[in-house]
Amino acid sequence: MATLISALLASSTLVGAQNYDASSRNGAAFQYVQPLDTVILDEYNSSPPVYPSPNATGVGGWEEALQKAKDFVAQLTVEEKADMVSGQPGPCVGNTVAIPRLGFPGLCLHDGPLALRVADYTSTFSAGVSAGASWDKALMYERGYALGEEFRGKGAHVALQPVAGPLGRSGYAGRNWEGAAADPYLSGVFMSETIKGTQDAGVQACAKHFVGNEQETMRNPVFDPNGTDTDILTAAVSANIDDRTMHELYLWPFADAARAKVASFMCAYQRVNGSHSCQNSAILNGLLKTELGFQGYVMSDWGGTHTGVAGILAGEDLDMPGGLGQYGMAFAENADYPMPSFFGGNITLAVNNGSLPETRVDDMIIRILTPYFALGQDQDFPTVDPSSAELNTFSPRSKWGREFNLTGPSSRDVRGNHGSLIRKHGAAGTVLLKNVNGALPLKAPKNIAVFGNDAAEPTQGQLNQQNYEFGNLIAGGGSGTGQLTYLITPLRAIQERAAQDNAKIVQYWLNNTLIANADVDALLIPDRPEVCIVFLKSWAAEAEDRATLHVDWDGDAVVESVASKCNNTVVVTHAAGINLLPWADHPNVTAILAAHYPGEQSGYSLTDILYGDVNPSGHLPYTIALNGTDYNALPTTAVNTTGVHDWQSWFHEKLEIDYRYFDAHNISVRYEFGFGLSYTTFNFSNFNAEPLVSNISALPAPLPVQPGGNPDLWTALYNVSVAVTNTGKVAGHAVPQLYLGLPQSAPEGTPPKQLRGFEKVYIEPNQTTTVSFLLTRKDLSFWDIFRQDWVVPEGAFTVHIGESSRRLSVSEQVDVLGS
Ligand SMILES: *[C@@H]1O[C@H](CO)[C@@H](O)[C@H](O)[C@H]1NC(C)=O
Ligand SMILES: *[C@@H]1O[C@H](CO)[C@@H](O)[C@H](O)[C@H]1NC(C)=O
Ligand SMILES: *[C@@H]1O[C@H](CO)[C@@H](O)[C@H](O)[C@H]1NC(C)=O
Ligand SMILES: *[C@@H]1O[C@H](CO)[C@@H](O)[C@H](O)[C@H]1NC(C)=O
Ligand SMILES: *[C@@H]1O[C@H](CO)[C@@H](O)[C@H](O)[C@H]1NC(C)=O
Ligand SMILES: *[C@@H]1O[C@H](CO)[C@@H](O)[C@H](O)[C@H]1NC(C)=O
Ligand SMILES: *[C@@H]1O[C@H](CO)[C@@H](O)[C@H](O)[C@H]1NC(C)=O
Ligand SMILES: *[C@@H]1O[C@H](CO)[C@@H](O)[C@H](O)[C@H]1NC(C)=O
Ligand SMILES: *[C@@H]1O[C@H](CO)[C@@H](O)[C@H](O)[C@H]1NC(C)=O
Ligand SMILES: *[C@@H]1O[C@H](CO)[C@@H](O)[C@H](O)[C@H]1NC(C)=O
Ligand SMILES: *[C@@H]1O[C@H](CO)[C@@H](O)[C@H](O)[C@H]1NC(C)=O
Ligand SMILES: *[C@@H]1O[C@H](CO)[C@@H](O)[C@H](O)[C@H]1NC(C)=O
Repeated sequence: MATLISALLASSTLVGAQNYDASSRNGAAFQYVQPLDTVILDEYNSSPPVYPSPNATGVGGWEEALQKAKDFVAQLTVEEKADMVSGQPGPCVGNTVAIPRLGFPGLCLHDGPLALRVADYTSTFSAGVSAGASWDKALMYERGYALGEEFRGKGAHVALQPVAGPLGRSGYAGRNWEGAAADPYLSGVFMSETIKGTQDAGVQACAKHFVGNEQETMRNPVFDPNGTDTDILTAAVSANIDDRTMHELYLWPFADAARAKVASFMCAYQRVNGSHSCQNSAILNGLLKTELGFQGYVMSDWGGTHTGVAGILAGEDLDMPGGLGQYGMAFAENADYPMPSFFGGNITLAVNNGSLPETRVDDMIIRILTPYFALGQDQDFPTVDPSSAELNTFSPRSKWGREFNLTGPSSRDVRGNHGSLIRKHGAAGTVLLKNVNGALPLKAPKNIAVFGNDAAEPTQGQLNQQNYEFGNLIAGGGSGTGQLTYLITPLRAIQERAAQDNAKIVQYWLNNTLIANADVDALLIPDRPEVCIVFLKSWAAEAEDRATLHVDWDGDAVVESVASKCNNTVVVTHAAGINLLPWADHPNVTAILAAHYPGEQSGYSLTDILYGDVNPSGHLPYTIALNGTDYNALPTTAVNTTGVHDWQSWFHEKLEIDYRYFDAHNISVRYEFGFGLSYTTFNFSNFNAEPLVSNISALPAPLPVQPGGNPDLWTALYNVSVAVTNTGKVAGHAVPQLYLGLPQSAPEGTPPKQLRGFEKVYIEPNQTTTVSFLLTRKDLSFWDIFRQDWVVPEGAFTVHIGESSRRLSVSEQVDVLGS
C-alpha cells in the first residue's frame, strides 16, 4: 500500500506550486496541491503519548499565589470545579462563572492582539507586524502595557494576546500580521516584552495559538451536519513538524512566553502530527508543561475542544468559550442553554465514574487561579464594563444561562493618552524601502498629488474592508481587529501638514480603477505636482489565507500609471505583511514606505516620517522576494481526496522558512529580512567578542526546570559588542542586528545564519555608541534530537553584525567551546 501510494504521488510533487501566486492576482482563488508523502506519513502519523499531566508547582515566583489557589480549590464542590474549567456565555468573549460564596467574580476574557475588540471607547493600536517591524523592545513593552491598561479598565482579566502562531512559515497565512515576525528570535522578544507589559498592567496575557497554526485553510474539522459533535467528516489540517524544527522555530517564541511567566496559553485549532492541538499530550503535557515548565493554564481556541476526558488528561485546562458543540460559532448564537459541552456536566460525570482523577481537575483550577492571585486580580480589580454585554453579538444576553453581576459604570473610556503612543508606534513600524533623488523627507512641497483607495476615509464602516474598496486600511480582519473610535487618514494628515506649509494644492484621486486606466497627465492640473504619493493596501484576515502577495485593488497598475507620468512617485503600503513590489525598480518610483497596519493614528504616523519629524527606523520582519513563486512552504490547499485524515501539511522545508530558505539556496531577493533605510547612515566598527564563562560545556547544566525551560539555557556565555557611528547629517535610530552561523559540525539543515540579537539605539550625528549583545547558551545551540537537549556545537561560529540579514558589516569567527 505504502509503495503504491508513494509511486502515485512521486509524479504529483509540486503540482501547482509554480502557479501559486501567478494565478491568483487580485483575489482569484488559489490552488495548491500538496502531495501525500507516505514515507513521511509513516514517520509523522502520530504524536507520542505523554502522560500524566504535570501538576503546577508555582516554581519561578508563583509559589504563594499557588498556595492561595490550592486553598480556594479545597473549598469547592465537584460541580463548582466543573464550572470553573468550563466557559459560559456571558458579557465577555470568554467567561467563567462566579463563585460568589468565595468572593470569586469569574474571569472575563477578551480579544485581542491590537485592541480590546468587543468594547466601546478603546484604542486601536498598531498590529503585531508593526511592533515586529519596529525592532524596538521598549516599544513592545510600552504597547503591551498600554493594551493591558485598557483591558484592566474594562474589567477584562485576560487579554487574548500576543501571537506567535502563526510565526510566518508562509507569507500567505491569513493571521501573520497578528504576530511580529517570520523569525523565532524576534518573535520571542515580542512575546516576552508584550507579556511583561500586559501583565505589569495587571492583566493576564495569553500566548497563542499553540502550536504550528501556520495556515487558516482547513484549520477546523468539517462535521457531519446530521451527526453529533464527534462525527467528523474531515479532520482539521495536521501540521506535521519534526522535533528539531519544532524546537528551533515554532516552539522558540513560546518558550520565551513561558519564561516571561505568561498566565495562559491558547491551544490551536489545527492538529499537530495528527492529533488536535487541544488534546495533543506531546505538545501540552510534554513540550509546554514539562520541558518549558509552564505554570499557568491552557485554554482552547474558541471551539477547539473536540473531546472531554482525553483533552483534559492531555493537558487542556479550560474549555473556551464552552459548549460550542459541532456548529461552532453559529451554534453559540442559535443554541439554547445549557449547550452541550465536552466539559461542564461531563466533568462531574467523569470524576464520579472514575474516568477522570479529581486531582487533575484540581490542577486545572489551580493553574487557572494561580496567575489570578499572582497578578493581584483578587484585589481591587475593576468590574466588567456592563457595556460589553450589549456589544457582544457572540454570546448575546438572551443566551446566558447564568446571571452575570454587572456593576460599575458603563461605557468607560479607557483610551487615556494612548493616541500619542499609537502615533509613535505606527511610525516606528514603518519601513523605508527605497529613497532616491532625495525624495524623502519632503521639503514642504507646495503642490502634492495623492492617489489610491487607501488614502482616505473608509466608506462603509471601518471593519471588514475586504468587502469594499475605499478606505485607509490600518488593521486586518477577524478576532484580531479593533473597533475604531476615530481614524486619522493619510489624506487628512497630509492636508493638515500642507496647510501648515502654506502649500498651494493637494490634489487627490481615490478610485484605483480610474487611476490605473487613466492618462494621469490628463488628471493633474497643468502646474506639475512636486510629489505624487500613491497609497496601496492589502487585506488579510482570520479564517482565510491570503490569495496573493500582490497589493489589492489593482494597486500595481495604479503605481505604473502614476509613475509613467510623475517622476517623483512615493509609494506607501498599508499591508498585512509581505507584498511583492514589482515596480520597485521603476526609475520614477523614488521612495517606498511599508507602513504595515499602524493603528488609529495612521495618517499622523505617516506624515511624521514623510516630513522627517521622525527618522524612519523600521526594518522588515520578513523577506520580500523578487517573485511570488520564489517562496517555499506554501499553505496546504486543494486537497481533493475525501479521507477523514487527508489534510496533511508537511513541514518538509524544516528550518528553511523566510530568510533561512533564501540564504540556504542563495536566492536573490528584493528586500531581505531585517532591511530598512534611514534618513541618516550608520557605520559599524570595533567588533569584540568575549566569553563570559570559562570552559564552556556543550550541554547545559541539568538544572531543575523553571518557566521557559532549563534556566541554564539563558546563561549568557558570550558578550559581543560593536561600535555604531551615525555618519550622516541627522539623528536617528540604528538597528544593529546579530546573525549567527553555527560551525560546520552542526547537523545538516542548519541555516547559514540566524538572528540571535538586535538592539535599537538612538544616535546623534557624528556620535558613536557601543552596542552589546549577550549571547545565551540557547542562542549558541542547536536542538539535538538524539540527546533531546540544546547542544553547543564544536568549531568556529561566524558572528555577523549589520543593518539587515544581507547587509553585514562585520563577520568574525569565534570558537565557543574552545574559549
Ligand atoms: C512529530 O513527529 C515527528 C516525526 O516523528 C517527531 O520528530 C516530532 O517529535 C513529533 N512531534 C510531536 C509534537 O508529536
Ligand atoms: C498531582 O497532585 C496530586 C495530589 O494533589 C497527586 O495525587 C498526583 O499524583 C499528582 N500528579 C502528578 C502528575 O504528579
Ligand atoms: C456583585 O458585585 C458587587 C460589586 O462588585 C458585589 O458587592 C456583590 O457581592 C456581587 N454580587 C454577587 C452575587 O456576586
Ligand atoms: C443530512 O441529512 C439530509 C436529510 O436527510 C440529507 O439530505 C443530507 O445528505 C445529509 N448530509 C450528510 C452529509 O449526510
Ligand atoms: C457531554 O458531552 C457531549 C458531547 O459534547 C454532549 O452532547 C453532552 O450534552 C454532554 N453532557 C453533559 C452532561 O454536559
Ligand atoms: C464516564 O463519564 C464520561 C463523561 O460523561 C464518559 O465519557 C465516560 O464514557 C464514562 N465512563 C464510564 C466508564 O462510564
Ligand atoms: C471608479 O472608476 C471607474 C472607471 O472610471 C468607474 O467605472 C467606477 O464607477 C468608479 N467607481 C466609483 C465608486 O466611483
Ligand atoms: C518618468 O516620468 C516622466 C515625467 O516626469 C516621464 O516622461 C517618463 O516617461 C517617466 N519614466 C518612465 C520610465 O515611465
Ligand atoms: C521631474 O519632472 C519635472 C517636471 O515635471 C522636472 O522639472 C524635473 O527636473 C524632473 N526631475 C527629474 C529627476 O527628472
Ligand atoms: C515569476 O516566476 C515565474 C515562474 O518562474 C515566471 O513565469 C514569471 O515571469 C516571474 N515573474 C516575474 C515578475 O519575474
Ligand atoms: C483539485 O481540485 C481542483 C479544483 O477543485 C483542481 O483545480 C485540481 O486540479 C485538483 N487537483 C488534483 C490533484 O486533482
Ligand atoms: C560631523 O563631523 C564632520 C567632520 O568632522 C563635520 O564637518 C560636521 O559638521 C559634523 N556634523 C555635526 C552634525 O556635528
